[in-house]
Amino acid sequence: VVLVVDFGAQYAQLIARRVREARVYSEIVPSTMPVAEMLAKNPKAIILSGGPSSVYAEGAPRLDREIFEAGVPVFGMCYGFQLMATTLGGTVDNTGAREYGRTPLHVSKAGSTLFEGTPVEQSVWMSHGDACSAAPEGFAVTASTDVVPVAAFENDEKKLYGVQYHPEVLHSTHGQQILEHFLYRGAGIEPSWTTGNVIEEQVAAIRAQVGDKRAICGLSGGVDSAVAAALVQKAIGSQLTCVYVDHGLMRKGETEQVEKDFVAATGANLVVVDAQERFLNALAGVSDPETKRKIIGREFIRVFEQAQLEILQEEGPEVAFLVQGTLYPDIVESGGGTGTANIKSHHNVGGLPEDIEFQLVEPLRQLFKDEVRMVGQELGLPEEIVQRQPFPGPGLGIRIVGEVTKERLDLLREADAIAREELTAAGLDREIWQCPVVLLADVRSVGVQGDGRTYGHPIVLRPVSSEDAMTADWSRLPYEVLAKISTRITNEVADVNRVVLDVTSKPPGTIEWE
Ligand code: XMP
Repeated sequence: VVLVVDFGAQYAQLIARRVREARVYSEIVPSTMPVAEMLAKNPKAIILSGGPSSVYAEGAPRLDREIFEAGVPVFGMCYGFQLMATTLGGTVDNTGAREYGRTPLHVSKAGSTLFEGTPVEQSVWMSHGDACSAAPEGFAVTASTDVVPVAAFENDEKKLYGVQYHPEVLHSTHGQQILEHFLYRGAGIEPSWTTGNVIEEQVAAIRAQVGDKRAICGLSGGVDSAVAAALVQKAIGSQLTCVYVDHGLMRKGETEQVEKDFVAATGANLVVVDAQERFLNALAGVSDPETKRKIIGREFIRVFEQAQLEILQEEGPEVAFLVQGTLYPDIVESGGGTGTANIKSHHNVGGLPEDIEFQLVEPLRQLFKDEVRMVGQELGLPEEIVQRQPFPGPGLGIRIVGEVTKERLDLLREADAIAREELTAAGLDREIWQCPVVLLADVRSVGVQGDGRTYGHPIVLRPVSSEDAMTADWSRLPYEVLAKISTRITNEVADVNRVVLDVTSKPPGTIEWE
């Protein structure tokens, strides 16, 4: 494992992903972890991330000097670089000479371990206030900028390397190459982390964990639960039962994808619970968004637990495992975790016996989203499932502004299917993050179709581009594509006579309308 020490900014996750792109397994640890504990993980190399602090600020995170003396190769980036410099006796000045953004880097030692084979002049991404003016003893200075005399250094004998900039961001044009040079040349690591290995490792781990017991997995139609289920299915076969709650709020064809394509690809035992009526009844007369969300969430848990109970009764009490598609970013963001979590089922809601405790199986807890997709692909899951864009748990229920009824759901499903079809045909799926299609069920406007006046509903298109759904911008889709979608929806979907485009970024608008 390669450890990425997190100094408290958003960089550590990106670095960990870049290390994995270099086919080397990486894990993130907080900078507050004692160095002895880091070393006890037997890392093949350690990377110190950037961070928001100045090394001179009071309370700035530090590291025990021991980390540089254990014989483990270390690569410091930005804050990590400055920390390495000051800890080992170099000079970092608080000069006020800030560099921010794209900056030209002058490589002074072209044949060095990090810079070998990269241009003497290259563009890098800087973000710092302090500057290193003298490298520690025994270190060779390998690059500078117009502002910073020491922008990179290395001590090949001790396997210590550092750069002032952020090689992990794409604006640093040779960043990935430099990271790989550290891993392969500096630390002598063989790239061997592949999705094939992940699958093999996880299959063995799941078998060891579950033994001859049984497991249940809820499928949502999304990527994560599908890939988690497929992995567990590969490991324990018929000991797994998958449960899919059909709440009637899915998009066109999605339930069939789970029922047919997922089962065909994996051979899993699937229990489909048809709960459409139940959800419609529970939602009748409700148009407040938060109330709708609460009802859908509550009904979902009830139906899922009822299904669990039936499986328990049928299979006997040895169903002890619940599969969840938790991803690595969830683990990191909730502060780590050791993989031993137990959850107690909400026994008061669904009527499960009080003492039932499921143990969690979380086969994706080491993986980033793009790796999950690769694993899914390798496991033979259909492209439509593996490449699916984000879709909210409450489904189309929160894309109908107004009361949710069967007729309105069917209408929205048609409009949404047309939009998705045309976006796919135009090759825009990878470009947009997602495109909610919203029915304004309580709004009508006047139109004219054929010879007659119409009084129908508007459909809203909400295409957005985003990195992580925390912020988003509205996608500038080509007019021809918008025109095609508009024409088709107004022609093909009864009771819709207008299509409008949402041109609001997030913030202030959320991605979904409710
Ligand atoms: P908002 O509307 O908050 O959405 O900008 C951000 C992202 O989250 C998705 N979303 C949900 N996903 N359950 C989910 O699993 C939910 O209740 C939910 N609500 C919103 C939304 O589609 C977008 O990707």
